[in-house]
Amino acid sequence: MLKRFSITVDDALLSQFDKLLTNEGYDNRSEAIRDLIRNALVHQEWESDETFTIGTVVLVYDHHKHDLMKKLTDIQHESVNLIVASLHTHLDEHFCQEIIVMRGTVAEMKRVADRLISTSGVKHGQLLPSTTGKRI
Ligand code: NI
Repeated sequence: MLKRFSITVDDALLSQFDKLLTNEGYDNRSEAIRDLIRNALVHQEWESDETFTIGTVVLVYDHHKHDLMKKLTDIQHESVNLIVASLHTHLDEHFCQEIIVMRGTVAEMKRVADRLISTSGVKHGQLLPSTTGKRI
């Protein structure tokens, strides 16, 4: 059931919010506010180590770097119960991108993500927190 509520905001903040909506392609303020609320709820879910949820690690690395691919693959094989899928993209003659989808507790996913991202030779790595969608 949808509920309607009103928000009091000063002109300057509302004007900035409306610009943000336009830039991000929202048709109306309600959907934008719903998304802000959902983002806050997902953020809150990730504050608890025990939350069972979904996260994605994105890595960029040079596959020529000695032993690096093996190390990254070993870490993933040690975490088969956590890793749902992975996608490897050859970016150019040197660099690869790997997208690793995980499902598990926040603590487990952070541990694996930290190991992958901190592996020597990984140029860029990031854990993207998401949600199973059940609680939002
Ligand atoms: Ni590659």
